[in-house]
Amino acid sequence: MLSTCFIHLKTQPWWIITLSLLGFLSLFKNSIFLLKWIFITFFRKPKNLKKYGTWALITGSTDGIGKAFSFQLAKKGLNLILVSRNLSKLKNVTREIEAKYPNTRIKIFEIDFSGPNISAGILEMKEAIKGLDVGVLINNVGVTYPSAMFFHEVDEEIWMNLVRVNVEGTSLITRGIIEGMVARRKGAIVNIGSGASIVTPSHPLYAVYAATKGYIDQLSRCLYVEYKHYGIDVQCQVPLYVSTKMASKVASVEKPSVFIPSAEKYVESAVGSIGYEARCTPYWGHSIQWWLASILPDAVLDAWRLSIGINRRRG
Ligand SMILES: NC(=O)c1ccc[n+]([C@@H]2O[C@H](COP(=O)([O-])OP(=O)(O)OC[C@H]3O[C@@H](n4cnc5c(N)ncnc54)[C@H](OP(=O)(O)O)[C@@H]3O)[C@@H](O)[C@H]2O)c1
Ligand SMILES: *[C@@H]1O[C@H](CO)[C@@H](O)[C@H](O)[C@H]1NC(C)=O
Ligand SMILES: *[C@@H]1O[C@H](CO)[C@@H](O)[C@H](O)[C@H]1NC(C)=O
Ligand SMILES: *[C@@H]1O[C@H](CO)[C@@H](O)[C@H](O)[C@H]1NC(C)=O
Repeated sequence: MLSTCFIHLKTQPWWIITLSLLGFLSLFKNSIFLLKWIFITFFRKPKNLKKYGTWALITGSTDGIGKAFSFQLAKKGLNLILVSRNLSKLKNVTREIEAKYPNTRIKIFEIDFSGPNISAGILEMKEAIKGLDVGVLINNVGVTYPSAMFFHEVDEEIWMNLVRVNVEGTSLITRGIIEGMVARRKGAIVNIGSGASIVTPSHPLYAVYAATKGYIDQLSRCLYVEYKHYGIDVQCQVPLYVSTKMASKVASVEKPSVFIPSAEKYVESAVGSIGYEARCTPYWGHSIQWWLASILPDAVLDAWRLSIGINRRRG
């Protein structure tokens, strides 16, 4: 069978042979890609997070994705350091987690990352947690515009706050925590990026938000390389829409669906990816959307995002 096939092929002109070979190679490459994705998404074993240390620090831990991370890391047996802006919300989340996981130790810190002196708050926290082996850091805090806007319409205060929270906050917390990890020669850092800067070529009418997430992506990629040999696994996780307060504000997402998971569902996948590749889209429904975006021309995606932005600005 195979040999007759070869004989048949030999009688063909060179260009048919070349095209068949290219077709075969492309099929092979795509099959490998698909098999790898299936393995990573559905079969790969999550890392044992306790190996990194006994404490996890989560920023923006009182709502959405950060709150879900807090619950699921408690479930994994880690003690928690929760950081957010609102003390009463922090106390409530602590109560809820303690009710569900009574053995979890929890420390809370009220830090406003858009405030005038973030460094001072972080310094104070660093003193208070001195000696704790923080093995996992989830840099989750992030804010966006109140609604879609052209760049010239964005108040300076809005975008300054956004840069403070998304860029300075993340960098300063990482700087504060990574030293201990370097000393212990182990740790896992997860930075929450966004499809806005990675999956679509542009995110018009949310330019500053997308740009801050571009910073997060590249910072993570460099730190991944810088700290690998210190035993520290840095990763940028890239969610697309997740049904949270932020998504209901910017995309009128009101309830979860297959492609827009609840924060709990999203974080189940996210926790399983900690410590692996430099950048990942942990939730399977998001990776399918990313793949679809990757086969469309940039100009089509640009036009689509622009029309969405303009609609939301009017609406
Ligand atoms: N939801 C999505 O569709 C989506 C998509 C891609 C990426 N992301 C990213 O995922 C991350 C989490 O988003 P989310 O949807 O879970 O957001 P969310 O529901 O709006 O929750 C944000 C959290 O951050 C805290 N926070 C906000 N401003 C703060 C400040 N100035 N200082 C300290 N804490 C502050 C909030 O706590 P307080 O209320 O106590 O201030 C809250 O716990 C963000 O980085 C976001 O960019 C989300
Ligand atoms: C904290 O959050 C609650 C509930 O969202 C809100 O009522 C309260 O005003 C917030 N407190 C501060 C200091 O922002
Ligand atoms: C805290 O929880 C109580 C009840 O569990 C609720 O009534 C209150 O609004 C919550 N406060 C905040 C700030 O979320
Ligand atoms: C910020 O806080 C630190 C520590 O309390 C202090 O040394 C510094 O002067 C403060 N900076 C500003 C601009 O307030």
